[in-house]
Amino acid sequence: MRFGIKTLDEMDVRGKTVLCRVDINQPVDRAAGTLKSINRIRACVPTVRELSEKGAKVVLLAHQGSDIEYKNYYTTRPHAAVLTELLGREVQWIDDVCGPAARQKIRELKDGEILLLDNVRFVAEEQTLFEMKLRLTHEQQAKTLLVEKLAPLADLYVCDAFAAAHRDQPSLCGFEQVLPSAMGRLFETEYCTVSQVMEAPDRPCVFVLGGVKISDAFLMMETVLGKGVADRVLTGGLVANIFLTALGKEIGRGSVDFILKSNYGEYIEKAKALYARYGEKIALPEDLAWVTDGQRQEAVLGQVPADIAAIDIGSKTAEAYRTSILNAKTVFVNGPMGVFEQAASELGTKAVWQALADTPGFTVLGGGDSITATEKYGLSDRMGYICTGGGALIRFLSGEELPVVKALRHGAAL
Ligand code: 3PG
Repeated sequence: MRFGIKTLDEMDVRGKTVLCRVDINQPVDRAAGTLKSINRIRACVPTVRELSEKGAKVVLLAHQGSDIEYKNYYTTRPHAAVLTELLGREVQWIDDVCGPAARQKIRELKDGEILLLDNVRFVAEEQTLFEMKLRLTHEQQAKTLLVEKLAPLADLYVCDAFAAAHRDQPSLCGFEQVLPSAMGRLFETEYCTVSQVMEAPDRPCVFVLGGVKISDAFLMMETVLGKGVADRVLTGGLVANIFLTALGKEIGRGSVDFILKSNYGEYIEKAKALYARYGEKIALPEDLAWVTDGQRQEAVLGQVPADIAAIDIGSKTAEAYRTSILNAKTVFVNGPMGVFEQAASELGTKAVWQALADTPGFTVLGGGDSITATEKYGLSDRMGYICTGGGALIRFLSGEELPVVKALRHGAAL
């Protein structure tokens, strides 16, 4: 038992039918019918392998695509093929989620066999829009079609989907109400690693917050500064530009227009309040960079031209941030320092990421852009921990109780 949740060590799965919810949501190349990345599939392999090798009949539930931002549901069929290859044993697949065909296939499973069901979000009650409109309690989720049809066929439920732990949906929170439940190995690693950062980080503990996901960054900053988790917050990207604007610094008209055009104006007031309270812990850029005719330009604050749009931190800032990161014992990173996708504005992100690789401190990274930057610079093997979760990680670090954690604690007692 860890954090009130059972682990696989406390489950006897031999001969049992285990429903295992994974998060193998990946970018899809629709034209080719293939997955553009398989990192989340790879990450859940240890749990699936362990369950199968211990003699469980393994039924995998997963979603692919989102109804909120992207409206891009897709079948899980390609995922079964990738899993088969990674595991070196067949992962069966069926184009059904909880209908008669899926239920028959589950009944026919033999010990050690693995079946992946089709996208659980093909079932209306699993959709995020449904979750947001109706807000079913966990007890109500136990009465949804998915849970009522599948739970009677199963003995146990395992959740390995930390990346979806912020979602309050039947496949994630309903089964724990009716089946003895545990977290899988990936969930265990991710949840324990990020809990450690929040509860007892080795100090100094530095947060590097950049990128353009402003609401996430501000929520996290309020929590980690308010709770005294962060000793220092290094700001970059749009987050830094908002703080500099709040402090009345000249950062170029293009930079301010972008903040206002994106409706981030309200964060200028929040930045003022945060800086008034925690200013000594918040590091802001001392220089900025922009691009003119494909060429990188830099200036220290006070000399930034009025007509530019800053899209990177400057090299003095990058050097100062490197020193902070090298001296830290724990570093949490979310969001790049600038537009690292183009060569002229990648210096800040590249330098900070190199410092993350070089520091003897423990580094934790999460979020799509941060992972993309890590892969771009070939530093994946040099980071302490790369979390598969974006939204879930941010919600957790913002101090929210994750619905799946609450449900798993309930299921630990069954
Ligand atoms: C993710 O990609 O962050 C997870 O798979 C959760 O997906 P969602 O945001 O569509 O629920």
